[in-house]
This record gives sequence, C-alpha cells and structure tokens, in this order.
Amino acid sequence: MRGTTVITGADGYLGRRLAAALLTDGDDDLVLAVRAADGAELAAKQQRLDQLLGPQARDRTRVVAADLSRDDALADVDPRAVTRIVHAAAVTRFNVERDLARRVNVNGTARLRAFATRCENLQRLAMLSTLYAAGRRHGDVLEERFDDVGFVNHYEWSKWAAEEEVLDAAGDLPVSVLRLPTLIADDDSGQVTQYNAFHNTLKLFYYGLLSLLPGDGTTPLSLATAAFTTSAVTRLLDPAIASGIYHICPDPADTATLEELIDISFTVFERDPGFQRRGLMRPLPCDQDSFEDLLSAADLLRGGPINQSLSSVSPFAHQLYLPKTFRNDALRAAWPGYAAPDPIALAETTCIRLIETKWGRRTQETP
Ligand SMILES: NC(=O)c1ccc[n+]([C@@H]2O[C@H](COP(=O)([O-])OP(=O)(O)OC[C@H]3O[C@@H](n4cnc5c(N)ncnc54)[C@H](OP(=O)(O)O)[C@@H]3O)[C@@H](O)[C@H]2O)c1
Repeated sequence: MRGTTVITGADGYLGRRLAAALLTDGDDDLVLAVRAADGAELAAKQQRLDQLLGPQARDRTRVVAADLSRDDALADVDPRAVTRIVHAAAVTRFNVERDLARRVNVNGTARLRAFATRCENLQRLAMLSTLYAAGRRHGDVLEERFDDVGFVNHYEWSKWAAEEEVLDAAGDLPVSVLRLPTLIADDDSGQVTQYNAFHNTLKLFYYGLLSLLPGDGTTPLSLATAAFTTSAVTRLLDPAIASGIYHICPDPADTATLEELIDISFTVFERDPGFQRRGLMRPLPCDQDSFEDLLSAADLLRGGPINQSLSSVSPFAHQLYLPKTFRNDALRAAWPGYAAPDPIALAETTCIRLIETKWGRRTQETP
C-alpha cells in the first residue's frame, strides 16, 4: 500500500525541495501542510506549489492549511493514512521574538507530536532542527540529546525546546531529529535563494559597512547546500534506517574555519573591479567586548542601513566566539560514501554568485 508523507512548512525553502525530491524518488502521496491565514492565501500557496512541483504532482499531492500556532492545525488530515511526517515548519529568523518562537516552534511541535500519536501507521516523525540547538556549549558536539546550557538567541532556544518535545516521545514514536548546518546555497553552483546571517555579513564586508570581524578565527563553521541536505533528509526518512539524532553536516575534517572562509571570500571580492575601486582593507578580528561596543553604537543609529544589516548578523555573531566541532558519525554510518560539498569551493562559488547578483538585487530564477 502506498504511504502518505505529511510535510509541514511545505512551501518553505526546504519543504518545497523535500516535496519535489519525494515526488521524484518515492511513490508516497504527499500532504503539503502550509500556514495560511485564509482561503485566498491557501489558494495562492497552492498555485505556487503547483508551479514549482509541476502538473504531474497534482495526482499525488494535497495542500492543506495548517497553522501550527493553532490548536486545530492538521484537523483536515486523516491520521490513519499517515505513514511519515517531516516537520520543516518554523519561524526561522535568528532575531525571532521569544514569544513567537515559543508559540510556533515549540508549541507547534508539541501539537504535531500530539497529532503523530494518533497516526497508528506512523513509521517516521522527522523534525528538522539546527546544529545550533547545541547553544552555548563548545568543543566536540555529539549526535545526542542536549542539556540546556544557554543559547545566544531565541531561535536556538526554541529549536532545542522543540527537539525536547519530540524526543520526549521517542519511546513511543519512531522519532528522528535531523540537525542541519547553515545552508549557504541551493546547490554546488552557488546560487542563493534564501539569505541568512552568512550572506548578510559578507554583504556588509563587500560594501565596506563592517570593518571588524566578530569571532574567534579558529571557529569551525559547518556549511552545506539545500541539495545536500535534501538528499540526506530523504535518505534518513527511509523507515529501514534507524530513527535517532543525526547531524547532517560535513565531516569535522572537512569543515572550514571562520578564518579560512573570510580568506576565500575576500579572495573573491578582491578580484571584483567594483570592490577594488572602494580600496577596502580586510576586516580586523575583534574580541567579544569590542563587538558588543559596535552593536551598542549601531543601536543609536536606529533605522539606518548599518543598524538594519547588523541586526541580522548580531543574533548569531556570539556563536562565532564558541568554537564547536559537530560530529556526524551516525550520519556517516547511515549513509556510507556520502559526499558533502567542499566548504572552500562552495564558499567561493557562492561569493561569486553573490557579487554577480548583487545579493539578489539582480534577480535569478527562484526554485
Ligand atoms: N535553511 C537553513 O539554513 C536551516 C538551517 C538549520 C535548520 N533549518 C531548519 O529547517 C527547517 C526548514 O527551514 P527553511 O529554511 O525551509 O525555513 P523557511 O524557508 O523559513 O520555511 C519555514 C516554513 O515554516 C512555515 N511556518 C512559519 N510559521 C508557521 C506556522 N505558524 N504554522 C505552520 N507553518 C509555519 C513557513 O510559512 P510562512 O512562510 O507562510 O510563514 C514556511 O513554509 C526549519 O525547521 C529550520 O529551523 C534550516
């Protein structure tokens, strides 16, 4: 019998790629759960997913409204039909307010878990989390349940708390927590359709709006592409693979440091005539206190472009002072021969595309 996979956040950056991959590589029917305030928003999201997934998807997909901050989320889905759930929905801004993060990321996950307990044929509940659910710990980080050691922003805290919601049910449900690294490009071409703190920080450097480099240069930064992540998640959804906690990231030995990533980024920038004309120096590393001073000064420029840009960088910058090595032994055991993107080559192609598109201002195709 054909299974049914529910994807929450199915119109998000990863959700829509996972839907496309499961349509191509599997034969499950898909329930694409999206946040929609009303019928008009649901219809618009349905139309967009139709365009992205193609007309052949219509036979195997159903788009449903499911706002996970509401108690009636997933009321339209028959739990008996559901065999797998991929939980990709979340508010993903690093500067998300604590209350919103609690309502959607934590309580929304608790609602999904409650729904999962009613799915009598469930073979996998996979929650997409982040490596930074590790919070303020440093050193080796294993694929295991984390204690609360404090967090640098509410997003991290909420993903940790959401993990706790599903892991509490691991004795009764086939639960996997898939912790993802920072995705900096769609694929090895370096094309970017989702911008985050990585891109925003480089933009500040490129335009000369930031001359200090926050962080300890030796901090490893785990980076990957949406294509790599999608392959890993679809593989780990296979019920034949053990449920559990997985770090979907490159091997520790293949992870670049902050220093190496800045070096390759400026090597690319310095080849660009526009950057050359500005005659900018490479940024000076700064300690955490100096960076805090910069943030306080920028706060006084409320509303200005520097403050706006810094506000997307600052909620994450503190992590750059907490070097961590993410172990991925469980992933490697489950996926022998897997190949994560080379971080330096990926950073290089991504920087080239960022300059070409002026950080998305010159439009490119959005998958
Ligand atoms: N992309 C990364 O670099 C990365 C790294 C680490 C972990 N992750 C994790 O991977 C997952 C997917 O990330 P993504 O990059 O695809 O994020 P995304 O593009 O921001 O998508 C998030 C999805 O969640 C939906 N959502 C937000 N609030 C909701 C609510 N109240 N009820 C139901 N759905 C809601 C969004 O819908 P609206 O747009 O309509 O609000 C959107 O479809 C997330 O759990 C994220 O924490 C991503």
